[in-house]
Amino acid sequence: MFRNLTEEEKENKYNEIINYAQKVKNKSLRKVCLEILTDFKKELFTHAAGHDAIENIKYTKTHQCFDGGWLDHTLNVTRNAYLIGTTYEQEVDMDLILFGAILHDIGKIKIFDPWNEDNDIKSNLNYSYLLVDHVYLGEQLVEIYLNKENISEKLKYQALHIIATHMDTMKKHMAEAYIVSYADSIDATIENIISYPRNQINPLLNSYMYESVNEDK
Ligand SMILES: [Fe+2]
Ligand SMILES: [Fe+2]
Repeated sequence: MFRNLTEEEKENKYNEIINYAQKVKNKSLRKVCLEILTDFKKELFTHAAGHDAIENIKYTKTHQCFDGGWLDHTLNVTRNAYLIGTTYEQEVDMDLILFGAILHDIGKIKIFDPWNEDNDIKSNLNYSYLLVDHVYLGEQLVEIYLNKENISEKLKYQALHIIATHMDTMKKHMAEAYIVSYADSIDATIENIISYPRNQINPLLNSYMYESVNEDK
């Protein structure tokens, strides 16, 4: 069930994300990750990763709609992406995978307001979500931080490419972008399933979900 995280749970998840950021070997990418996690710590502790449905519009992909949901989702995506990246580590850039996983949804800190049935769209979303979504807002924010670093244009846009394409709104051109995007989908889908009771229709996936039973243990 959707439940808000305790302050201790949030702190633990935040610290684990910081530990992953420390693994980024490129000094500039590591610095940008850590600066953003530090500068927006307050927002990260109070924002969800998903949103409440807008009245009369059915969303099927929303996930981690609870206080601390951003931390929960980002940590899961980073863990998933790190594991997938490790499988292919000779061929892929783990710095870009970690950077992209940690910051892929940073734009979500700008799209949620407190839930308010009196607001114009009867949701916890604000209009920036409807008009440009979190991908664009996240890219913009991360680019401001990358521009302060002495890195090549090529590395800068490769890092931004992972954020820009994680939702399939643009064609992907790098293995690292696929890894982060799949890691993201895995967490969003599994979190939807485990957050709702099984043996009934899951309202978010619009599909019947069974409880797994293994009586042969
Ligand atoms: Fe996203
Ligand atoms: Fe995500």
